[in-house]
Amino acid sequence: MCGIVGYIGFREAYPIIIKGLHRLEYRGYDSAGIALFDKGLKVYKKAGKVSDLENFVKDIKLHGTIGMGHTRWATHGAPSDRNSHPHSSGNRKLTIIHNGIIENYGVIKETLIEKGHIFKSDTDTEVLIHLIEDIQNETGMELREAVRVALTKVIGAYAIVIMSDDEPDLLIAARKGSPMVIGVGKGEYFIASDATPIVEYTKNVVYLNDNEVAYLTRESLLIKTIDNKVHTPYIQKLDLKLEMLEKGGYEHFMLKEIYEQPRSIRDCMRGRIYPQQGKVQLGGIKEYTEKLKNIDRIIIVACGTSWHAGLVGEYLIEEYARVPVEVEYASEFRYRNPIITEKDLVIAISQSGETADTMAAIELAKEKGATIFGICNVVGASIPRTTHAGVYTHAGPEIGVASTKAFTAQVTVLTLMAFYIAQQRGTITQSKLVEHLTELNSIPQLVERALLSNDHIKEIAWKFKDCPNCLFLGRGSSFPVALEGALKLKEISYIHAEGYPAAEMKHGPIALIDDDMPVVFIATKDSSYEKVISNIQEVKARKGHVIAIVTEGDTEVKNMADFVIEIPETDEAFVPLLATIPLQLLAYHIAVMRGCNVDQPRNLAKSVTVE
Ligand code: G6P
Repeated sequence: MCGIVGYIGFREAYPIIIKGLHRLEYRGYDSAGIALFDKGLKVYKKAGKVSDLENFVKDIKLHGTIGMGHTRWATHGAPSDRNSHPHSSGNRKLTIIHNGIIENYGVIKETLIEKGHIFKSDTDTEVLIHLIEDIQNETGMELREAVRVALTKVIGAYAIVIMSDDEPDLLIAARKGSPMVIGVGKGEYFIASDATPIVEYTKNVVYLNDNEVAYLTRESLLIKTIDNKVHTPYIQKLDLKLEMLEKGGYEHFMLKEIYEQPRSIRDCMRGRIYPQQGKVQLGGIKEYTEKLKNIDRIIIVACGTSWHAGLVGEYLIEEYARVPVEVEYASEFRYRNPIITEKDLVIAISQSGETADTMAAIELAKEKGATIFGICNVVGASIPRTTHAGVYTHAGPEIGVASTKAFTAQVTVLTLMAFYIAQQRGTITQSKLVEHLTELNSIPQLVERALLSNDHIKEIAWKFKDCPNCLFLGRGSSFPVALEGALKLKEISYIHAEGYPAAEMKHGPIALIDDDMPVVFIATKDSSYEKVISNIQEVKARKGHVIAIVTEGDTEVKNMADFVIEIPETDEAFVPLLATIPLQLLAYHIAVMRGCNVDQPRNLAKSVTVE
């Protein structure tokens, strides 16, 4: 939510900032703005995408070797020019960009208005910069100190960068609950919400921790905690390549990421499975092996697509490791009073590793003494740094807002975890493990084969591109796949879609079925095949259009369905990894045919760092 970029050094800042904003646009894209220091502070901002901002400034000669930029996902105040960041203090001497929410902004604003402050926007952010100005006015404090003091007075989450007209050689950055990375160059520093805008300039980065303020000049980086203790920066090396951030010849990032899945699933398993030995090795959770033998229960917390992956994980873990699993929306879990004990294992799943609700759920479970594992994609993000242990998905950067390769990588990690825990608890025989791991090892090739249906799926997409509603049905671990198929379609094509367990159809959704209603079934040859066939008959009897995902060579469903999409035969446990592929492609093609922006669907953001 909201992307932040900053630069201080010897190069022209504008090109670095604008390129960085394009890279971060997945975080929000309803307005954008920049500030540069060129004989005084200059601020330019515009509602719309980063390209609208570029257009807006194209005839202006922009100079400055210090600057910052912001791309917004609106929370407080509608997307508009005046609510765009940066926001300035009353005397125009200070300007700020912000990601997060200042929760007590209302009270602070009232006090400031009483003191004569005049606000130009509806944002919480503007209140913070006025507060800093106010502290300076009242106490005569220098800016560095005033920022720190102001931050002790605000409640909420933030990643901020501040520039001052009086101090042209200074950027101040701070974070609490929203991500921020500092790139360390020679005579220059970069700031960003994630490392993607930084990677082409330097691989040396410092991840700012919560409650830290960074003071950057061209020559120095000083980090202090909000309670004024100096903290020595820990410089890490980035393992990120520039090509990973480009479209690589595909029309959209989403399509590229769908096609990357054979590779991302392989990367996710690399060095972790030994099929011939029947062994799974997960270095990240190794220290907890003993603990795993004695856990009572696993609670999975996540949001969105990651929650769907968690539901697949529930089937796998219960089936193989025989531990009871509960899957919770992090946003609900955090606001109940859940019963958690020290014998519980909580697994937090998050692509970005930054989702605010998932972070809060982790904190709650930690307070109650549970052991917390993370399953994250972005290395070094907040969640993997908060959890006790974890396993990275290694899917590589996912830029399309609709999650694709991250989902299959999460399911892969959960599969590995299920077998790992089963191995430790002795709930699976060695020969079964050899059999399953051998099949799992072949999944990347089978995904490649599933991708070969792309042209056929495109033809099906053409037939259904104008439908107003769509139902997705599946049973067992194909139920979460149905949920994920429906989510993909609604996110990027704006068609109303619902996922349901196939047998539940008769308790409601069946009322919707008429000759206008496409119903997508996951009807692969597994333990619920016969039951799903009955559900298909029920839809056909009511004139619904059936699109079925079937196992290669299936004839029974083919005779009933209007369209079938084949996926290779595999072990029942791994069907979700294959059945998801055609659903991603179906949603993608329908959205493209409807003229939707698939990589940046309206109102959504990839990383939701507000609750
Ligand atoms: C947003 C994204 C989804 C994602 C969800 C959870 O809604 O648009 O694609 O599944 O957040 O994000 P996380 O990074 O925690 O997996």
